Amino acid sequence: MSGLHLLLHTTEQPEQWVAALQKELPQARIHRASDAPQCDYALVWQPPAGLFGGQPALKAVFSLGAGVDSLLTSDELPEAVPVVRVEDSGMASQMAEYALYAVLDAFREFRCYARQQRSHQWSARPPRERADFAVGVLGLGVLGSYTAQAIGALGFPVYGWSRTPRRVTGVTCLHGSSGLAEVLASARVLVVLLPLTVQTRGLLDARRLARLPHGAVLVNLARGALVAEADLLRALNEGRLAHAFLDVFSTEPLPPGHPFWDHPGITVTPHVAAQTTVAPAARQIAEKIAKLERGEPVTGVVDRRRGY
Ligand code: NAP
Ligand code: GLV
Repeated sequence: MSGLHLLLHTTEQPEQWVAALQKELPQARIHRASDAPQCDYALVWQPPAGLFGGQPALKAVFSLGAGVDSLLTSDELPEAVPVVRVEDSGMASQMAEYALYAVLDAFREFRCYARQQRSHQWSARPPRERADFAVGVLGLGVLGSYTAQAIGALGFPVYGWSRTPRRVTGVTCLHGSSGLAEVLASARVLVVLLPLTVQTRGLLDARRLARLPHGAVLVNLARGALVAEADLLRALNEGRLAHAFLDVFSTEPLPPGHPFWDHPGITVTPHVAAQTTVAPAARQIAEKIAKLERGEPVTGVVDRRRGY
């Protein structure tokens, strides 16, 4: 694989990416500027406008993350160039950790005890049965299916939802609009792990949030625009939802003065639910480049019409 030219664009740990890629592909030349020579592959996260304009010979574009929503909106990306995304590479276990934290917090009512402690109140809540505490997981892909199984392994009934029919051990798998209605009606905690596409944008609006059981908890780990944020705020303010754990937002970073920052019913984290770990992701990308160079198929190729 000598003589390969790679165009790298990321603002997140760029030096570590260069080092890791150079280790995996010692003969490749890595370029970081938009005035790079003609490259074979682009490896990008949130590419700026103009990045692909001068690159007519790309054989594939690699997303350095799992989600490709911001990449697919680039109108300079030539139609015929395959887009390949990072699959898991350490992200699935991070997602499961976050979701488990939220599920256990909701199930064991730890935020209620924290409130009680602030008012020096000693008062036990009645115990609950896991069997009565169903969890919904929207999205049963690489990250959603792992997360759903991790929750199910603790004994919670798990209802998962996908676009097409899926089978995931220990998870009641549903699809389609009737499947979504069933998941929403059951979920004491709803974990969102869908890609942001034309079909899923604004999916969790007032009407769908209202279908959740009273006092449910929302956990959005995917993309902010999947949830109608004003509708969520209203559901929290009216006490219909007990809490929301939000890792992602319509505008990131979450703007100063945004009502989510100080809302007692919202836990904000700065888009860290599952971060790409550079070394394993660089290894995965290098292996895929090697396969493409040999003319072999690779996994993780995005269906650009579908949007994920
Ligand atoms: P994936 O493997 O592509 O899985 C996507 C899942 O969503 C699939 O089960 C798919 O259904 C389902 N889906 C897509 N469109 C749907 C629709 N219209 N209706 C119902 N289900 C639909 O994606 P992934 O790797 O698990 O990642 C999921 C998302 O997590 C990413 O797109 C990204 O936005 C987000 N993410 C966030 C972070 C973070 O730190 N917060 C980190 C990584 C990823 P099928 O199974 O039928 O195809
Ligand atoms: C992060 O949000 C990713 O999509 O990998």
